[in-house]
Amino acid sequence: MSLLAGKRALISGAASGIGRATARICTREGARVGVLDRDPAGARQTVEEIAAAGGEVIELTADLRDEAQVAGAVAQLREMWGGLDTVIGCAGVQLAGRDDRADRLSLEAWQETIDINLTGMFLLCKHGIGALLKAGAGGSVVLVCSPTGQYGCAPGYDAYSASKAGVYGLVRVLAADYAGEAIRVNGVIPGYTDSPMTAWVTPAEHEALLQTIPLRRAGRPEEVGEVIAFLASDRAAYTTGGVWAADGGMTAV
Ligand SMILES: NC(=O)c1ccc[n+]([C@@H]2O[C@H](COP(=O)([O-])OP(=O)(O)OC[C@H]3O[C@@H](n4cnc5c(N)ncnc54)[C@H](O)[C@@H]3O)[C@@H](O)[C@H]2O)c1
Repeated sequence: MSLLAGKRALISGAASGIGRATARICTREGARVGVLDRDPAGARQTVEEIAAAGGEVIELTADLRDEAQVAGAVAQLREMWGGLDTVIGCAGVQLAGRDDRADRLSLEAWQETIDINLTGMFLLCKHGIGALLKAGAGGSVVLVCSPTGQYGCAPGYDAYSASKAGVYGLVRVLAADYAGEAIRVNGVIPGYTDSPMTAWVTPAEHEALLQTIPLRRAGRPEEVGEVIAFLASDRAAYTTGGVWAADGGMTAV
């Protein structure tokens, strides 16, 4: 039996990178997927790729900073599918060239990062978990974290690191909040992953980053998506409140 047969999943950030790979994997494993992203062209590409492979998928254009848009996207899925079983938060930004160490960091860059990476994740959970509760059959939530939320491993990315530390907090407290309603909440830590988010990395920085990774290579978005799909599934029934690394060993050393 497929990992996610019969499940209805909402995935943020599924127009690109890890979110898109996760959407592909979840539909391959039998789930219906709602692709939530602020980038309609990218979301359409995800939808077309998945539909061409026979998956069931719909596009939901929404900016996570806008609560009405997030609520509307969740309501649309509930109306179409009668409920929701899993919520996966992949959307995020890293403002290369604008993020900085604190004394040089503009309030605008700080606020934009926190608004998307942390408040946006909260709004996704607020409305997504609301739909799980209405369905009344438990469910699962998986939020994408980052090694930068755990360690000071990205000097000069103060807003990004702080926003991701907040996501760890959200994973743990939501796991405690909703365990009684059989909703599991886990985090996944990608390491250095080959996606549009890391396009700014220069060849010299790439080589230096590889030295921090025991497996000595960048991860592929699919390698993160496989872990997310497993945690979202009933086969991970006894996991909640954990953060699980798919990082080539980066956070182990
Ligand atoms: N790539 C890495 O090396 C890496 C490492 C650690 C953590 N992460 C995290 O993994 C997640 C996915 O990153 P990725 O590498 O796939 O990046 P990506 O840039 O390829 O994808 C991010 C997606 O989020 C969407 N998004 C951004 N802001 C949004 C908003 N306000 N509303 C709705 N959608 C929005 C973008 O449109 C995009 O489709 C992010 O949370 C990122 O912080 C990535």
